[in-house]
Amino acid sequence: MCEGKIMLLSKRVQAIQPSPTLAIDAKAKKLKAQGIDVISFGTGEPDFDTPQNIKDYAIDAINKGFTKYCPVAGTADLKNAIINKFKAENNLQYAQDEIIVSCGAKHSLYNVFQALFNDGDEVIIPAPYWVSYPDMAMLAGAKPVIIKTDDKNSFKITPDAISGVITEKTKALILNSPSNPTGGTYTREELAEIAKVCIEHKILIISDEIYEKLVYDNFKFCSIAEAAPEIKPQTLVINGVSKAFAMTGWRIGYTAGPKEIISAMTKIQSQSTSNPTSISLKAATEALNGPKESLELMRLEFEKRRNYIVERLNKIEGISCLLPSGAFYAFPNISKLLVKEYNDNLINTDIELADYLLDRAKVAVVPGTAFGAPGYIRFSYATSMKNIQEGIDRIEKALKQQ
Ligand SMILES: Cc1ncc(COP(=O)(O)O)c(C=O)c1O
Repeated sequence: MCEGKIMLLSKRVQAIQPSPTLAIDAKAKKLKAQGIDVISFGTGEPDFDTPQNIKDYAIDAINKGFTKYCPVAGTADLKNAIINKFKAENNLQYAQDEIIVSCGAKHSLYNVFQALFNDGDEVIIPAPYWVSYPDMAMLAGAKPVIIKTDDKNSFKITPDAISGVITEKTKALILNSPSNPTGGTYTREELAEIAKVCIEHKILIISDEIYEKLVYDNFKFCSIAEAAPEIKPQTLVINGVSKAFAMTGWRIGYTAGPKEIISAMTKIQSQSTSNPTSISLKAATEALNGPKESLELMRLEFEKRRNYIVERLNKIEGISCLLPSGAFYAFPNISKLLVKEYNDNLINTDIELADYLLDRAKVAVVPGTAFGAPGYIRFSYATSMKNIQEGIDRIEKALKQQ
């Protein structure tokens, strides 16, 4: 063990936590590796395989020797595919120098934060939030300013709530629709109202649209940059192939926005990872340009599972769950289950409930506290229908007072 000044870690890293969702996943995987039959609702990744045409395209790229360094911000081919996607699907026009491809949407967000924030800048983050936003903001020296929402208002922030927390230090607002962890979505009209406040106060919008393709009940996804064209010059749109194309391991995300910010992000990327993996750049190009039938099949399957899991959760006494219109998460309110005993275990918090469910029922869920929302738990239904049925059966049993 080294001691003394030389081994002191930076204040930045000491201020942040490891990703709690990855930690739960690791715990569930460890139990599985010990031969324990754990059902995991913890993972934030599709359980489907990457579509065959994408895999074939990548294998072909390897065989053709596409294995060298590429342009830092991604190949022109992939940027073109992204530009075409924005034009066709979001009615948004971007040029090559307004796009940067990074190693997953998480890396895109990291680069955005590093490029934008100075020490003490404030960034507004609606809660429940994706676990990484506050820590990534702090890593960049910024102060997360949390706006709390709950299931009574469908987890939505309002323009008034935004105005209420704006100070002269406010630099950006993070939006995530469809949301991880709630699955909630904003309509075009709601986004246009949010945009008005941000225009008035000259606040940047960081719009994480990674779950764009996973929407249900005919909900029509809209990017805030499309809902209010005047906001586009102060908006960074983040998207990627991980969730829509079942490509989490390929690590491709992208950002579209003002070229000065994209250029700053490119500079950061040039001094850290350089280009994302050449093969993954090719695979993502095929994902965006190629056939899309498999996307719809996956979306329909998610919709079926969503309907099932939400119905089952609402049948459990003490649990109430909104029907989410997007992503692959259910985020039930479990506050009525708390401060009670289950099989001689006193459960006071969502964290204790998640621990109890893992120990007793061998079911992994993520406590709402990880998302800034105590009193809730998150279920990812990116797992088979059979697992969902069995997992909910086990939870029902573990919550029966015996
Ligand atoms: C809201 C949100 N943004 C970004 C990401 C990161 O995506 P990627 O795997 O492309 O880095 C995730 C993944 O869980 C997410 O849920």
